[in-house]
Amino acid sequence: MKVFKITESVTKYTFGKPINTEAVVLTGEECFRDSLEFLKVKYNQELELDYDMNTQDVIWGLGENQRGMNKKGGIYESFCSDDPRHTPDKKSLYGAHNFIVIDGDNKFGVFVDYPGKVTFDIGFSKKNKLKIIVEESNVDVYIIKGKSPKNIVREFLGIIGESYVPPKWAFGYQQSRWGYKDSKDIKEIAEKFIENKIPCDAICLDIDYMERFKDFTIDKDAFPNFKGFVKEIKEKGFRLIPIIDAGVKIEKGYEVYEEGIENKYFCADDKGEPFIAAVWPGVCHFPDFLNSKAREWFGLKYKFLTDLGIEGFWNDMNEPAIFYTPRGLKEAVETAKASEKENLDIHSFFALQDVFSKMANNIADYKGFYHNMNGNIVNHYKVHNLYGYNMTRSAGEAFRKINSNKRFLLFSRASYIGMHRYGGIWTGDNHSWWEHILLNIKMMPSLNMCGFFYIGADTGGFGSDANEQLVIRWNQFSIFTPLFRNHSAMGTRSQEPYSFGENTKEIITKAIEFRYALIPYIYSEYMKAINNRNMYFMPISFEYNDEMSRRIENQLLLGESLMIAPVYEENAVGRYVYLPEDMLLWKVRDYRNRKYEVVKKGHNYLNVDFDEIPLFIRKNKILVLGKSSHNVESLDSAELNVIAFVENEANYIYYDDDGNSYDFKKGKYSEIIICIRKNNEDYEIEVKNKGNKLVKKISFDIVDVDGNIIKKIIYL
Ligand code: GLC
Repeated sequence: MKVFKITESVTKYTFGKPINTEAVVLTGEECFRDSLEFLKVKYNQELELDYDMNTQDVIWGLGENQRGMNKKGGIYESFCSDDPRHTPDKKSLYGAHNFIVIDGDNKFGVFVDYPGKVTFDIGFSKKNKLKIIVEESNVDVYIIKGKSPKNIVREFLGIIGESYVPPKWAFGYQQSRWGYKDSKDIKEIAEKFIENKIPCDAICLDIDYMERFKDFTIDKDAFPNFKGFVKEIKEKGFRLIPIIDAGVKIEKGYEVYEEGIENKYFCADDKGEPFIAAVWPGVCHFPDFLNSKAREWFGLKYKFLTDLGIEGFWNDMNEPAIFYTPRGLKEAVETAKASEKENLDIHSFFALQDVFSKMANNIADYKGFYHNMNGNIVNHYKVHNLYGYNMTRSAGEAFRKINSNKRFLLFSRASYIGMHRYGGIWTGDNHSWWEHILLNIKMMPSLNMCGFFYIGADTGGFGSDANEQLVIRWNQFSIFTPLFRNHSAMGTRSQEPYSFGENTKEIITKAIEFRYALIPYIYSEYMKAINNRNMYFMPISFEYNDEMSRRIENQLLLGESLMIAPVYEENAVGRYVYLPEDMLLWKVRDYRNRKYEVVKKGHNYLNVDFDEIPLFIRKNKILVLGKSSHNVESLDSAELNVIAFVENEANYIYYDDDGNSYDFKKGKYSEIIICIRKNNEDYEIEVKNKGNKLVKKISFDIVDVDGNIIKKIIYL
């Protein structure tokens, strides 16, 4: 074991010879220590870390994952998996985020930097035993100290490097569906949004835009004159976001295939031949994203689309997903043939069923190919979780070469910590199930802990048919997530905001309008969270120290001023909400109408009609709002509305920048610093403008602890 002091609060323990995942950006100095802090360690073939939890301990983290925000009680396997049925028994989803925070008498974080499979048994096998099992003993373990979970997360965010910042338009609403097949369909969607006056910034292009599912091609029958089409749709106010899949179709004459073969840019099998597996296009090869040359090559392929006017992408199937390999198919066919003559008994029947159901994403296949990590040949299975990360890195790095000062939208399905610097993530193929709204809520702060900020789920659910109230409730939550996209699978019931009756359309439209009005706050909080290493979504107890707050998993803090309490149950027109202090409630139907109510600290039952979004403003905090518009670029920033709940003094820094470039990193951003102070029966307002040239007027609704509203206006 070698020990390195990374920062005052972070120590790295190196076992064996780990692969450099580049998740952590700091190296630190070697120092001496003969044991790990907090954890017991055992290693020979495997490495095992043990910790005795107390009954009251809460374990946070693990990013995109199943179960609660408190991970206790579960067993989780970090192994990026293409599994669309997120039932509670599943141990892996698409991401692998090996960071946890132990929040008990001892408070510390653990990051297990290992790119293959890691098991976190958090009181599953034994109620109070935390066991982390790494399949190999070549691993870096980071122990992060801090006086609170919030501090520990801040320290962790400090060592993994700054999170991805999308362009501002990416905070607008996105409409997507697998099944919009051609330019006529897309145009129709755009027209529907315009006609119904529903704000929207982007429409996603799923695999059908490609010519037979080949990356970096356009189906010319479906999209004649693609460049002109991109322009035409942009003139209507929408951007198009095409999907890019990991697998490259094997087809003579197809440029990406030919170049990949010629330069040996594809992953190889054990004979050194390009590895073959099937995905959407049929048999494919897989770019070796772990090879820096291949990564650069593939990334620059995105230029084909950026040259056509595209400014955003979603990277998919990059666990990588495998439908079958020749090996798996052969095994299945042979088993089926052998079964033909048999009277299948319980064993042979299930064996037959298994061989087909396990054909996709089979571990034997993941063990059957290799990466050339710049001369070092590594079996894929050992570095599985780096694949999607490096696909997204390949695009992210290329964008900087294509246009060094332009932000592109990029989000991925598979991920590992480190990828958070290059793109965001969507949480993959969920279902139109109520349970998945709740799962979505719980995943958001866990993802922030692991560095992922541009995040969101398929709103309305990807698989299964959605009913109206589910789509309404899900939109009412997603208006708060940085990535706000309605996406669904082919063959499922349509769930665009206008797909149901007038009333549903109106409710969802009002919710989306509210999202646009909230963009000043959402963007400001997003950017400040990244710049100051805070979280955008937080569990309540990260700010409130009482015991009850630690138990709350269905409410979130959003930025520094708000608490949200979404409704996620069928037919529910209300819910219980726990308030750790008095707060100001605004039930939003139409954001133009302001009606507030002071709700007292403690447990409260709240009526929440289908058309209402409950929003809580914390005590001595400030919410800034603007006006909605049809897209982000057309938002009118001349007037800000402030809603403040003030007992004695409230402060807020409203951040803004150009929304498109990286100039903010050079200090080119603006701030409006607002301070509201109670002075006898009145309030004093102080506003300092640091470089904001857009805001001319700020109107204030200041609400005191008794619910009295004082209105003021300040001109800048
Ligand atoms: C995968 C993606 C999904 C997409 C589909 C077709 O299932 O997760 O979002 O619509 O592939 O490309």
